[in-house]
Amino acid sequence: MPTGPQIILTLKVLVVAVTVLLALSLVALVMKKPRLHGQINTAFFALTMLTVLCFEGFLQVVNVSELFTPEARQALRVHLYFSVPSTLLLPVMMATGKMHRRRLHIAFGLLFVTLWTGTVITGLGLPH
Ligand code: HEM
Repeated sequence: MPTGPQIILTLKVLVVAVTVLLALSLVALVMKKPRLHGQINTAFFALTMLTVLCFEGFLQVVNVSELFTPEARQALRVHLYFSVPSTLLLPVMMATGKMHRRRLHIAFGLLFVTLWTGTVITGLGLPH
């Protein structure tokens, strides 16, 4: 059974890894390669969903208060305020991108990037 700090460290590595993908997808946009942007973000979408589902599943089967200190639980709660809305927006981002609803996609994209920035800052700040 992994310890609380091991779980938090793993989460941090995963958040950084998928954020690199998101940044690369924006570089692809700047290089006027929207298809590549879509392909990279399809991977970003799948990996982020998988991470969130595995983490949620894991939290269901372990005793959270045994694994994490009260300080870590509070920090995790704040992190979830950003990561849950970001995750809910992901299918919207995929759908508006695929349907070429450009203005809607960019508007949701700005909201998504703001929430994702909060996810990264509060994720990297978790105590481990
Ligand atoms: C600030 C963030 C983002 C901006 C400014 C942005 C912008 C764009 C633009 C301008 C296009 C081309 C639309 C068109 O051809 O009409 C596009 C396509 C697309 N985007 Fe984004 N996007 C962002 C984030 C995301 C995210 C987070 C995802 C998914 C997780 C995503 C998925 C897609 C997909 C699947 C396409 C379709 C690519 C294709 O034509 O094959 N985008 N995006």
